[in-house]
Amino acid sequence: MKLNAILSSGLMAAVALAAPTPTIDEPNASFNKRASVTETPGGYASQNGGTTGGAGGTTTTVSSFAQFTAAVAGDAKKVVFVSAPITSSVKQVKIGSNTSVIGKSSKVVFTGFGVLVKDAKNVIIRNIGIANVVAANGDALGIQKSTNVWVDHVDLSSDRDHDKDFYDGLLDATHAADFITITNSKIHDHWKASLVGHSDSNKAEDTGKLRITYANNHWLNINSRGPSFRFGTGHMFNNYYENVSDGINTRSGAQVLVENNIWAGKSSKALYTVNDGGAVASGNDFGPSENTAPAGTLKTVPYKYTLVAASAVKAAVVGKAGNTLTF
Ligand SMILES: *[C@@H]1O[C@H](CO)[C@@H](O)[C@H](O)[C@H]1NC(C)=O
Ligand SMILES: *[C@@H]1O[C@H](CO)[C@@H](O)[C@H](O)[C@H]1NC(C)=O
Ligand SMILES: *[C@@H]1O[C@H](CO)[C@@H](O)[C@H](O)[C@H]1NC(C)=O
Repeated sequence: MKLNAILSSGLMAAVALAAPTPTIDEPNASFNKRASVTETPGGYASQNGGTTGGAGGTTTTVSSFAQFTAAVAGDAKKVVFVSAPITSSVKQVKIGSNTSVIGKSSKVVFTGFGVLVKDAKNVIIRNIGIANVVAANGDALGIQKSTNVWVDHVDLSSDRDHDKDFYDGLLDATHAADFITITNSKIHDHWKASLVGHSDSNKAEDTGKLRITYANNHWLNINSRGPSFRFGTGHMFNNYYENVSDGINTRSGAQVLVENNIWAGKSSKALYTVNDGGAVASGNDFGPSENTAPAGTLKTVPYKYTLVAASAVKAAVVGKAGNTLTF
């Protein structure tokens, strides 16, 4: 594996290397210049055949809503670079299978509309900002009935000035979505951040699915769902939570492995359950909060990864998570 792949996807594959072990997104300005479309994720998106998106397919660069919508449609293998901010106010844009959507710089923010990965397989979304998607237009980033999805270096936000239902979710994975990795992302200024499994009554469809890794993300100024996790299997490590009222809610039979995360600021319910979830927790710094979840059963995951010590997580994540890359 190339060095740039390891740096970008966090440490999950780094254990295969000899020392020295790099840190998550190592603090080196040159990192930004090494971002590459051939990088692949660790975590659950590395399972089930892996996630390569559109690498090796056609490449287009788009700068308008119409160009973007056309470019991401269909299942042909393709890399779609976005080079400019785009504003629109419509329902989510559907992304086809075998597709990489990549923002060329931190200027690339979608305002007013989100994206939907539905009935798809093998999708990568990197280095995009998505802001202020009103509830009528869906979630900022939705994943449904899809497998092998890597979300990396995205910046998802709205504001806390409106009613909690004015916006819907920032990053929701529902309807048996599976083999998903969410890394290096900034998820902030929102009421209900990330919902995994939308309803207690959807057990038949979701049981055995919803396998998701969240690593190296910066959760900031969130009321709830960091994430709210039903039925599935979750691995959360090296996340930095800051002013997050309700953090990880393991519920409805979900099992989560929660390692080396930090809770800071006005965070209150770091790790808890509302009904029948379990958590294995180690190496965390719950800060002003605590872990009240029942002991769980998820002690191992089927991929390699390397943890950064909780004391090093803030420096590794804050200011680096989000759409901070240059392609
Ligand atoms: C940081 O970037 C410089 C310039 O590319 C490189 O020589 C150096 O090895 C990098 N540092 C690390 C820790 O990778
Ligand atoms: C794209 O994805 C579909 C659905 O997963 C798959 O069947 C197909 O073979 C892929 N096509 C290419 C060109 O990789
Ligand atoms: C977290 O909340 C506190 C108290 O409201 C506030 O002073 C602080 O600025 C917040 N932190 C960030 C990074 O917004």
